[in-house]
Amino acid sequence: MTDQRLAVIVLAAGEGTRMRSRRAKVLHPIAGLPMIAHVLTTASHLEPAYVEVVVRHQRDDVAAAVGEYLPDAIVVDQDELPGTGRAVELAVEALPADFDGEVVVVSGDVPLLDTATLAALVAEHRAAAASATILSAVLADATGYGRIVRDAAGGVTRIVEHKDATEELLAITEVNSGSYVFNAAALRELLPRIGSANAQGEKYLTDVVALLRESSATVAAVPVADSWRVAGVNDRAQLSEQAARLNALIVRGHQLAGVTIHDPASTWIDLTVSIGQDTVLWPNTRLAGATTIDRDAVIGPDTTLVDCEVGEGAVIKRTDATLAVIRAYAEVGPFAYLRPGTELDGGGKIGTFVETKNARIGRGSKVPHLSYIGDTEVGEGSNIGAGTITANYDGVQKHRTTVGSHVRTGSHNVFVAPVTIGDGVYTGAGTVVRKDVPAGALAVNVAPQRNIERWVAANRPGTAAAAAAADAAAATPPVE
Ligand code: UD1
Ligand code: CA
Repeated sequence: MTDQRLAVIVLAAGEGTRMRSRRAKVLHPIAGLPMIAHVLTTASHLEPAYVEVVVRHQRDDVAAAVGEYLPDAIVVDQDELPGTGRAVELAVEALPADFDGEVVVVSGDVPLLDTATLAALVAEHRAAAASATILSAVLADATGYGRIVRDAAGGVTRIVEHKDATEELLAITEVNSGSYVFNAAALRELLPRIGSANAQGEKYLTDVVALLRESSATVAAVPVADSWRVAGVNDRAQLSEQAARLNALIVRGHQLAGVTIHDPASTWIDLTVSIGQDTVLWPNTRLAGATTIDRDAVIGPDTTLVDCEVGEGAVIKRTDATLAVIRAYAEVGPFAYLRPGTELDGGGKIGTFVETKNARIGRGSKVPHLSYIGDTEVGEGSNIGAGTITANYDGVQKHRTTVGSHVRTGSHNVFVAPVTIGDGVYTGAGTVVRKDVPAGALAVNVAPQRNIERWVAANRPGTAAAAAAADAAAATPPVE
């Protein structure tokens, strides 16, 4: 149920300089979703009446992502005045004038902060009737963070930014995580009074704390249990650290739900992936996007599946597949490359060194070895010989190949599309199928073989081949 007294402000206007990226920082993905999508999901799970996102740098890109992942969120444009204080001031101004509930402030670059932690913070804030409740963290290395300054009684007196802190204050290990709960009324009253006379020339949100303290309001700071949850992503090293942590959580979730994952560290699973019970994942497997895997499948090692659908009991080894459907008890790999539009029906096989694209391979049909099958439809129970190529491209247009059911094609065939091979057809080894083959026919078009006797002795005298041929002739009595 919507909490009518709650608003969430997501700060995402910063430049993200340390990412050294042309992409907005909060749009860098982890576990398959942009960082800001994780934050928006967490915000919406608090069920607040309002979610606002403050934007400025690469504003249109960030606003588009907000529109995609949380269309109800309000996008607030920050003006040229810099600082977290200004960002929150504008966001509070954009709330209805009569809103006097609580405001949660979070950063768009802290993707692992969870709903439970924030919900507990809101509950503590309300229980203590506080004006501000800060989520703090105790860190071994507090470099860069604002320090939480407490008085002798343990009460929070102010937050001092790293760049403004004295040596003495830099020794404090309790830091501001950058997530807070404030009373909207306190922010409305105090933010306009904050200046920017500090080391960064910015309006600091954190200065609200000292002002509240002066007015004898209650300010609390609650240390988070797991400090990695509040770690921000400022550069690509931190991006990979947080991605690995989130991945570990996702892997563990699937393990506890009944998926065997042999090597969590080398198994990368997007948040959007679903996996059925008793499925087994071998090392170096990446499951991405809208991939769904049914139960009892065996995936990997060394397999990447992007936006794939995998049926019950399918076995996929050393394979790269995108937008492919692999139905129940089908087999793929090792060393297969499945491109978009591949559909392998139940019990079928796409084997070793096989590439497929826009190919529907019917129930029980097999393409076992060394083939390219594109723009093709194969019926049921057919076997495509080793080394078969569908020549689907004439240099201008792509053409289709149709193969019927219970077909047996020879090794090293070329199907020159457009071409249709009927039900029950056989083709000889090395056939270049240029014309349609009617049902039940044998197609052959390789020239008859001629053996030119004693050619090696005559044309390659003195070679090892000639010597071997002479030895063989001596050992074998000539046929009468
Ligand atoms: C801020 C806190 C610091 C805390 C740290 C935690 C302040 C003054 N300091 O510092 O106490 O320890 O976060 O990570 O708040 N942003 C805007 N508009 C701006 C500036 C920033 O929206 O004008 C956004 C950024 O995009 C980011 C968040 O606010 O999402 C924090 O900004 P950042 O510049 O990273 O603040 P820090 O200096 O890290
Ligand atoms: Ca930061």
